[in-house]
Amino acid sequence: MPDDNGGRERREPAGEAVAIRVEPDSAAALQAAAERLSATARSAAAMTGGASIAISGGNTPRGMHRLLARPPYVAEIPWDRVHLFWTDERLVSEEHPDSNFGAARADFLQFLPRPPGGLHPVPISSDGEASARAYEKELRKHFHERHLDEPIFDLILLGMGADGHTASLFPGSPVLNEQRRWAAAVKGGEPDVERVTLTYPVLICARRILFLVTGKSKAAAVRHVLTGKEPVLPAQRAQPRSGRATWVIDREAAALLPPAFFFEFEK
Ligand code: 6PG
Repeated sequence: MPDDNGGRERREPAGEAVAIRVEPDSAAALQAAAERLSATARSAAAMTGGASIAISGGNTPRGMHRLLARPPYVAEIPWDRVHLFWTDERLVSEEHPDSNFGAARADFLQFLPRPPGGLHPVPISSDGEASARAYEKELRKHFHERHLDEPIFDLILLGMGADGHTASLFPGSPVLNEQRRWAAAVKGGEPDVERVTLTYPVLICARRILFLVTGKSKAAAVRHVLTGKEPVLPAQRAQPRSGRATWVIDREAAALLPPAFFFEFEK
């Protein structure tokens, strides 16, 4: 049963909708993700006057970010009504090559025809807790101004590591149990540095989460997560409680999904 973006929809036992779009290669996956971001930004801006979007770090999304700086997206997205946040950030200066914000600025922010409605990078400091508190304050202010007492992003774009982490929510991290705060300080990942990450209380409020995952190095984690294996990995828990999770993956990342998995789609 095709879903609204040409992919194939799989209803999980809990009734949560997970839409999966398998693209032939990473370039097509990046394009599909850029299309979704553009469509969400345009529809949210039309319906509510603005779009709240959180983008991820890492390497995979950089190709998609560079697409956003080119036609048709650079002109069709109402940038002046888009508020951009980050799902996580490494606590390094914006000029450091590991900075997610610095990468986004280099890849597309500097090429936009007009500044976004709001740029909300994680405030960088040497004190992770202080940065997390400042980021949470910015998040709460943003959503309070929109008369929302929950962090309801129109779209959160996430990647996934080969270990099943997402944002900077790493397997075994105490932050996985955070139920109240919207941002937390963590250390870990690659690079293994101090970071600030959005927490599950934010991710589950999203209207839509889009996972963009490509490459054969992610195939085992994709199979684990999408077939609901134990132990539950951080990416498995990033499921909107009433929205939709869309997985945009390429054939390499889908390579280990069992044939029956796709057969079930046909019912
Ligand atoms: C980060 C990212 C992280 C990333 C995954 C996948 O800041 O490290 O937010 O969660 O999405 O590690 O990274 P790649 O796309 O580079 O494989």
